[in-house]
Amino acid sequence: MRRTIALPMLLLLLLTPAAAEDLDHGRQVAERWCAECHVVGAEAPRFRRARPFVAIAAKEGLTREMLVRFLLLPHATMANSPLGAADADDLAGYILSLRK
Ligand code: HEC
Repeated sequence: MRRTIALPMLLLLLLTPAAAEDLDHGRQVAERWCAECHVVGAEAPRFRRARPFVAIAAKEGLTREMLVRFLLLPHATMANSPLGAADADDLAGYILSLRK
């Protein structure tokens, strides 16, 4: 009985730090490159030009792959995407983590 509980717990402990780090990196990238126009986190709405990431994350059918592809293209007045593929992936993961 004990072991069946302990093993998933152990796996969780082993897996969590890496995932948390990616999300952290994604959030940092978002704050650096996106916060000028988008509300990045879950903070109280402020006036911004573009939709908050929470609203973007809530879009039905939006996948991480779609976001990554979008993020590697220029959009709005960001003439060139400043993001590398790894940045875009962490950032997409971060945006989707805001999904409720
Ligand atoms: C110069 C302002 C600006 C910056 C900087 C910016 N965006 Fe945007 N973004 C917009 C505008 C304007 C739109 C289109 C209108 C909207 O969806 O709010 C948009 C749309 C989007 C969409 C599509 C929303 C939808 O409904 O499909 C995503 C995803 C997105 N931005 C992500 C990002 C990410 C991630 C960053 C940081 C790398 C970023 N944006 C930086 C202005 C900006």
